[in-house]
Amino acid sequence: MTKIRVGIVAGGQSSEHEISCISAAGILGAIDRNKFEPVLIGITKSGKWVLPLPSTPLTIIDGQLPSISEDAPMICADLNEFSTHASPLNLDLLFPVLHGPYGEDGTFQGMCEMAGFRYVGSGVLASATAMDKSFAKAIFSAHGLKVAEGLTVNSRDWPHKANDINGRAQSLGLPLFVKPARGGSSRGTTKVKEISALNSAIEEALQFDSKVMIEKGIIGREIECGVLQVSGVTQVCDPGEVKISPEHEFYDFTAKYLDGATEFVTGIDLPDAIKKNITTSAKLAFEALGCEGLARVDFFLDNNGEVIINEINTMPGFTATSVFPKLWKEAGIGYTELITILIESAMSRSMSVTR
Ligand SMILES: Nc1ncnc2c1ncn2[C@@H]1O[C@H](COP(=O)(O)OP(=O)(O)O)[C@@H](O)[C@H]1O
Ligand SMILES: [Mg+2]
Repeated sequence: MTKIRVGIVAGGQSSEHEISCISAAGILGAIDRNKFEPVLIGITKSGKWVLPLPSTPLTIIDGQLPSISEDAPMICADLNEFSTHASPLNLDLLFPVLHGPYGEDGTFQGMCEMAGFRYVGSGVLASATAMDKSFAKAIFSAHGLKVAEGLTVNSRDWPHKANDINGRAQSLGLPLFVKPARGGSSRGTTKVKEISALNSAIEEALQFDSKVMIEKGIIGREIECGVLQVSGVTQVCDPGEVKISPEHEFYDFTAKYLDGATEFVTGIDLPDAIKKNITTSAKLAFEALGCEGLARVDFFLDNNGEVIINEINTMPGFTATSVFPKLWKEAGIGYTELITILIESAMSRSMSVTR
């Protein structure tokens, strides 16, 4: 049997470069090599496409996050074929294990569409909409899902509309959350507990994106849910909960990745009606945006039992111990099988728009 050659694309130009490397390492370690032949393709932080050396570390070593070396041999992509030193890589499919802008946001997907490459995950529009929280929230709302109240600030309005923005933000109450609209991994996100800290939080978020969200802080639990298309059928697994240790004010970057301060608990005890609300909302959100393949849908469950959708991630963290694979493991689909399902479903997908 000829094996499917899968380009595992890792790194990328976003602030989640390192996390992408860790996700790719997990996939390379677990992919079913009887069926697939993975080829690691790196995108460096500066945007160069390279063929990383096999010895490239892709995991955290002594607290040092991995990255794709700028010195690795370059790949040539001419939109017909990827090659290196004029020898074609003969890839059947690309698996963009890329998080954040220039990877998870429709740009990579657009390149694949233009070139006619098959790829894992959502298409251009769903990826772009999910990436931009200001657009995703409007669509969720239009489909009857509850979202956190808030406002969007564009860099062109900052700082000359600061007074107006401050006034509108203040009317939401405290705490507030300020975050880049197209961010990830909590980079650039601040919990604002005093209104005097708002401006610096906005400026911090503007370092990451020209568009910033200010939201009413939801007090409650963070619940995450996985959506997966298996043989064309959209399945939702039981939700799990992010348990953050009390020294972290919220699910920030360190709590997420670095110091083991967070536990993700599956099989949580939730009233049936709330669980049903969450799984139905996750499927609705997935379909509302037109997602494909997979997504992790994140919710808040506030102290009044209200389910509020926070965001949808079209390429969630994907190490063996990341939330998405953990959720599916609990549902009976192991990491290796999960990777197989994603690749096989991308291989069988037909073009949504006829050429
Ligand atoms: N409106 C909000 N209310 C309460 N917590 C929030 C809110 N927005 C963000 N957070 C906190 O910040 C974290 C990161 O924000 P999120 O919108 O999920 O962005 P990212 O794409 O970086 O994960 C969330 O997991 C949560 O802990
Ligand atoms: Mg999040």
